Amino acid sequence: MDISVSRVDEAARRQRPADGELGFGKYFTDHMFVMSWDRGRGWHDARIVPFGDFSLSPASMVLHYGQAIFEGLKAYRGDDDSIFLFRPLDNLNRMNRSAVRMCMPEIDPEAVLDALRQLLRLDAAWVPQGRGASLYIRPTMIATEAGLGVKPADSYLFFIILSPVGAYYPEGFNPVKIFVSDKYVRAVRGGVGDVKTAGNYAASIMAAVEAKEHGYTQVLWLDAIERKYIEEIGTSNIFFLFDESLVTPPLSGSILPGITRESVITMARDWGISVEERPISIDEVLSAIESGTLKEIFATGTAAVISPVGALSYKGREHVVNGGVTGGLASRLFDSLQGLQYGRLPDPYGWRVKV
Ligand code: COI
Repeated sequence: MDISVSRVDEAARRQRPADGELGFGKYFTDHMFVMSWDRGRGWHDARIVPFGDFSLSPASMVLHYGQAIFEGLKAYRGDDDSIFLFRPLDNLNRMNRSAVRMCMPEIDPEAVLDALRQLLRLDAAWVPQGRGASLYIRPTMIATEAGLGVKPADSYLFFIILSPVGAYYPEGFNPVKIFVSDKYVRAVRGGVGDVKTAGNYAASIMAAVEAKEHGYTQVLWLDAIERKYIEEIGTSNIFFLFDESLVTPPLSGSILPGITRESVITMARDWGISVEERPISIDEVLSAIESGTLKEIFATGTAAVISPVGALSYKGREHVVNGGVTGGLASRLFDSLQGLQYGRLPDPYGWRVKV
């Protein structure tokens, strides 16, 4: 892919925040990657340009019917100043699965990875130094055709923006309290819950707001039909450590196939832990908390990394997990995953990609 590069004027460079002020997704780097797609022509005009606003028709289809998909991955700075990506092609391939489901054009994952490397080299100074901080990468595709008919658009924009980030949850790597929603549902099999489309997140906001009003950080979704089986937590997948095994809901068509989820399954199996992907009901979880056979709960995701869960609220009752403290397996997974991502530990899986 031929990429034109137009660099930001020195005077227009953005101020880089200190690592301690990062939060999540509040700051953006100096440049972004953009390319356009038109029916009959395909992808064209690949360009790296200064980060800035787009000009869009108010009739752009994305604004009306939500044809928008995205990904989330991170770049990590190693101790020797190398910059690493974690399984980037898995994200780009997942984006293509989202594109197919949403009737949007597919990208060439290898070519986009190349473009991302170029963008990262240009904005390398933005990859934070601090432990736990990283550069969040947001590839996105939107329908730009102006028109109000409901159909696949004839033009799209694909772009990648970069944001230096700290922990996703204000709690950092400390247990979060989760509200189990039996009022709202996230997705149903046959819908779009297993792809990363913007509307899934828009639809989740009301439940998240209500959870916050009750003092909880995130929502735990139950299945849409029986409101009984565990699906996922807010923006991440979920794992339960029982006496005998680590259990996570199966990829049934209504949850997102997380790349961190898959990495955790692989690492845990490698460590000799039995991992089951099977339906888990909320009743099974609560009775295992009561009887003491449920040792840990944690969430996994690119933004969330490994987030221990300290309590679940269900039908007005709070159930404390593992005394409300971080469990040993969540800690071990967090340290191993971050060690691998930041280049501090060997990478037996070939997941780490040097920029
Ligand atoms: C990620 O973990 O990368 C996500 O996409 C979650 C995001 C919606 C904050």
